[in-house]
Amino acid sequence: MVQRLLRIFDHNAIPSAAGRKIFEALENAGYIDLTSSVSPTNDASIELLPLIRSLPANLQKICSLLLYGGNIVIDDSILETIEPFRELQTAGLVTIENDRIYLNGLCLYAIHGLLYFADFPNGRQPLYYGTDSEALVTRLPAYCGFGKRVLDYCSGPGIQGLVCAKMGCSSVTGVEINPVAAELARCNAVLNGLEAQYRVLNTSIRDSSSALSGDTFDLICANPPLLPVPAELCYPIVGDGGEDGVDITRDIIAAGVPLLSSTGHLLSLGMSACYGSKIAIEELITGAVERYKVNANLILLSEVVIKDGCEWTRSMADSINLYLVDDNKIQQSSVYEAYRKAGVSKVLSYSFSIAADNERDCHTHSIVDYRKARSNVLSWWV
Ligand SMILES: C[S@@+](CC[C@H](N)C(=O)[O-])C[C@H]1O[C@@H](n2cnc3c(N)ncnc32)[C@H](O)[C@@H]1O
Repeated sequence: MVQRLLRIFDHNAIPSAAGRKIFEALENAGYIDLTSSVSPTNDASIELLPLIRSLPANLQKICSLLLYGGNIVIDDSILETIEPFRELQTAGLVTIENDRIYLNGLCLYAIHGLLYFADFPNGRQPLYYGTDSEALVTRLPAYCGFGKRVLDYCSGPGIQGLVCAKMGCSSVTGVEINPVAAELARCNAVLNGLEAQYRVLNTSIRDSSSALSGDTFDLICANPPLLPVPAELCYPIVGDGGEDGVDITRDIIAAGVPLLSSTGHLLSLGMSACYGSKIAIEELITGAVERYKVNANLILLSEVVIKDGCEWTRSMADSINLYLVDDNKIQQSSVYEAYRKAGVSKVLSYSFSIAADNERDCHTHSIVDYRKARSNVLSWWV
């Protein structure tokens, strides 16, 4: 088995034309057109699954490699498509052995005109990419554009910052605590020819403040670890937003707002715990408006009620169990009990923007509550 458990990437080992050659090869094979036909707000691997057997044989193999975490034999039907991938071996993105090619647990998405390596969506995703990633991307174009300076907190493999760079922002700085994700973001930048505008600081949001002091940003975006997770449950850092879901968002606001330019905006989204009528994100945003004298819009998108046996506690148990050995698996009922003891009655999804707007002396916030229009399912759009 060649698949690597310890993944080490190196953006310096990617030849400058490698991304362009791969993009052209995937275009010729029909992969770009195929995946461009799936809405970016849906998971391509799920949407294309029912179609897969009706695709031409070469596309089936390419999808198996790029979308489904498979490995394929390099035969004549895909030789030309795979050839440019050989240049990614020393960067650790690809392994080729005995005529088989592997993506080392990664997927390669063709999205927003970018080639984008991230983890295969199998639940354990330290190199994360998901619908929440896209939910933030869809909110960016209104705020980013030519010449703007962007800060992308919790950048992961870099999707939001890379989209900003592609849209003409003059400089993008990612901040990412996981060194493997930070290096994968740099690889993604090189693959897309965006390295001149793009850098990543491998540090925590809190520790990034000293490196960034003196800088200002026109746009700060952040897709933080966002799941409300009671302290007694153990969840990996990529998703753990603390007991109320907004732990990392607190850091984002505290570190980010002082770095906004006079017309700058901070955009983020996430999930918040509700304790009866108290909503953690609402308290955080109203507190920030008062403290930093900014304007803010908070959109409450949807909510689920936490009950014994509900979809939320079942799916949290499933996710936690991915990391536990057989004897230690956690039951849904114990997960529910942890939320009950923490006093969490509901979880909601939200997005918000904060505007520095130093020119106005009246500072306000608005809250738009769409939750009543939705069924008991969490969603990123109304
Ligand atoms: C939900 S992922 C978002 C990744 C990417 N921006 C996206 O939307 O697909 C959250 C990322 O935040 C990183 N992270 C967690 N805590 C952090 C912290 N305190 N400072 C910086 N990054 C952090 C995680 O390693 C992870 O890559």
